[in-house]
Amino acid sequence: MDGTRARLTTTTTTDADVGADVGAGAGVVAIDRGGLRRALDRASMARGMGGGEHGKGERTGMIGHLKRAMAFAGGSIPVSEYVRECLTNPEHGYYMRGDVFGRDGDFVTSPEISQVFGEVLGVWAALQHEALGSPGTLRVVEFGPGRGTLMADLLRGTSKFEKFRSAVSVHLIEVSPALREVQARTLRCVDVETTSAAADDGGARVRVPKNALEGEGGEVDKRSGGDGPSGEAHTRGTSEISGAKVFWHDGLESVPNGPTLVICHEFFDALPVRQFQRTDRGWCEKLVTIDAELASTAETVEETTPRRELAMVLSPGPTPASHMLVPRRLKGLPKEQVDSLRLLELSPPSMTLWDKLADRIEKNSGAVLAIDYGEEGPLGNTLEAIKDHKFVHVLDSPGEADLSAYVDFGALRQIVEEKPQRGVTCYGPVTQQQLLLSLGLVARLEQLVENAASEDQANALVKGCERLVGDGAGNAETGEPPGMGVRYKAMCMVSRGLPKPVGFS
Ligand SMILES: C[S@@+](CC[C@H](N)C(=O)[O-])C[C@H]1O[C@@H](n2cnc3c(N)ncnc32)[C@H](O)[C@@H]1O
Repeated sequence: MDGTRARLTTTTTTDADVGADVGAGAGVVAIDRGGLRRALDRASMARGMGGGEHGKGERTGMIGHLKRAMAFAGGSIPVSEYVRECLTNPEHGYYMRGDVFGRDGDFVTSPEISQVFGEVLGVWAALQHEALGSPGTLRVVEFGPGRGTLMADLLRGTSKFEKFRSAVSVHLIEVSPALREVQARTLRCVDVETTSAAADDGGARVRVPKNALEGEGGEVDKRSGGDGPSGEAHTRGTSEISGAKVFWHDGLESVPNGPTLVICHEFFDALPVRQFQRTDRGWCEKLVTIDAELASTAETVEETTPRRELAMVLSPGPTPASHMLVPRRLKGLPKEQVDSLRLLELSPPSMTLWDKLADRIEKNSGAVLAIDYGEEGPLGNTLEAIKDHKFVHVLDSPGEADLSAYVDFGALRQIVEEKPQRGVTCYGPVTQQQLLLSLGLVARLEQLVENAASEDQANALVKGCERLVGDGAGNAETGEPPGMGVRYKAMCMVSRGLPKPVGFS
């Protein structure tokens, strides 16, 4: 391991190590995305920045694809389209690579740091189920489940709550076929069945799902006995962890009706953002181009280098998106704050999804929990690219680097406030620290430490939890990672009549 990187390794605990109590999330400690800005600043001081070498074929494929998209659009595309293609293009997108998490991947997330994370979110889910009157059917939906670790720990942690366990069906919304396979393994799915389109694909992989953010995700499949997803090709199985039925969906639309709990952990940060810049000509939009002539004549936002075939330029004037989105976000903000803004970053797909989720729980009853790194907003330019646990320029490694942006929680709350008649209430953001401590992180940790097989293991458990709720700056010299307790925040939305959720007071 490269000692100068802000990356740590701890003992990997497995089920075999500490018995049935231990979940999938006890593992590697490495760099989280919310802390990278700081972590890299330190690392780069010591070593200088660099993107490393790329697989030439993959890079060429993505560049070729972007060239065609830009030619089709008249020479440039909005930053949001660039991000979407880089992350979820079915052929060249970053998430199509499969397991990009942990020590051997590009970054680490909370469920991979400690099993306690998924377990206490299980407490949140069980409390919401109770608040809903313990219905006999409960759809537990997760957007962007990554390795499936959070859901595995949630199911394991709640398996003794009989009413909850028997009510739950799991609905995973995941764009990456490769990650769907990883999730099925993590959830110990048996009787995995894929319908014909996937079988036509040789049966080895599930088909490429539609992007959850585009269009409708299909109809409810009547053959599934009411629990299953779209009538199109899809995958389903049964988790041996709790016996829950597990379904993979392309989008929310195909999740069958019924009381619904939705978890989005580090999902909104992976959704495309548009970026705007205030100029004498009004709010112009940042565009990505590969056209050298355009890059030399338009107002350039980012330097073009021989290594960087792409450039970021400003639209000649306000775009339709500037006209529609900028005033909407700035509405109601104090004049001095608005006047001082030069940059604005907005995620239209996040706003649309939050709106859809509000509709969903209004009609079906339920709650939504989003946890991510973010701020109250409005935000300027937070888009960043991470490859091999270090920063690279956002234009340098299209399709090979993770792109993410801070979540503008204020913009999400605005979506709910714009329709006060809808009958859903939004709470937060509160810090991850406040949420996890309120949901009983310490009590669960004490239980695990008591049952730990060794002192090393107990220490690893404590360290993992300290990282989840701590707010320390970290220390690149000693390898101590920065705490995630304050940089990561939680926002919750509940349907009419539900009490304020625990942790949001
Ligand atoms: C940053 S990862 C978070 C993974 C997981 N929640 C965790 O915390 O470990 C983002 C996840 O969202 C998925 N994803 C990204 N964009 C998506 C989209 N448009 N539709 C569905 N899934 C998407 C990725 O494939 C990945 O599973």
